[in-house]
Amino acid sequence: MTKLIVANWKLNPITKKEAITLARSSDFKHVVIAPPFPFLEDVKKVLKKASLGAQDVFFKSVTKGPFTGEVSATMLKKLGVRYVIVGHSERRAMGETDAVVNKKVKAALDAGLKVILCVGENKAVRRRGVKKAEEFVRGQLAKALKGIKSKKNIVIAYEPIWAIGTGRNDKPEEIAVIVRSIKRTIHANVLYGGSVKPTNIASIISRGGVQGALVGGASLKKKDFRKIVSAVNK
Ligand code: PGA
Repeated sequence: MTKLIVANWKLNPITKKEAITLARSSDFKHVVIAPPFPFLEDVKKVLKKASLGAQDVFFKSVTKGPFTGEVSATMLKKLGVRYVIVGHSERRAMGETDAVVNKKVKAALDAGLKVILCVGENKAVRRRGVKKAEEFVRGQLAKALKGIKSKKNIVIAYEPIWAIGTGRNDKPEEIAVIVRSIKRTIHANVLYGGSVKPTNIASIISRGGVQGALVGGASLKKKDFRKIVSAVNK
């Protein structure tokens, strides 16, 4: 199975110059770099090994039109974007519903993009146990994948919300339980996301049953990211 490491830069960095520098130092095979929209084109120019990713996409399957502030899947595709992150918990927290996530998955696939679909439970759900988290995640998946026939261009990112940006990653054995449950729902590669660091990536890969990682904070740190990539590709 092909390994994949996604660098989700989120709302970073600030300047084009910084983005280019960061992209150059993150340009490895099996890597997807997802910068903010304004830097997509410049980042693409410097990438030789990594693929370009976007952090979001317009939910409608239209190429253009009167939709202020939106970026269509077709525009991304034409710009050289290969992957798009859909349903990240930070977007869901800003009001993105399961129905919108489902539309975004469809719009991205229709335009020929690969989808990195994010799912994951919050702290309240997880406190009630791994079984409850499994059920929650399976529910999210069912809603996000409703009506989607071909799933071959979908990668799932399992990201427990309580582990994102907190420095507290999920235990590999518990990740493995949820990953197995995801794989019973969809035949796809699964990544783990949530406080991935050079110090925890090896055990997450070897015992978590995942094919890679979605990396936020550590993808902004040149050395940390390089270490994570080499650990995943070992
Ligand atoms: P983090 O973010 O690595 O900073 O926890 C992961 C993500 O949100 O994709």
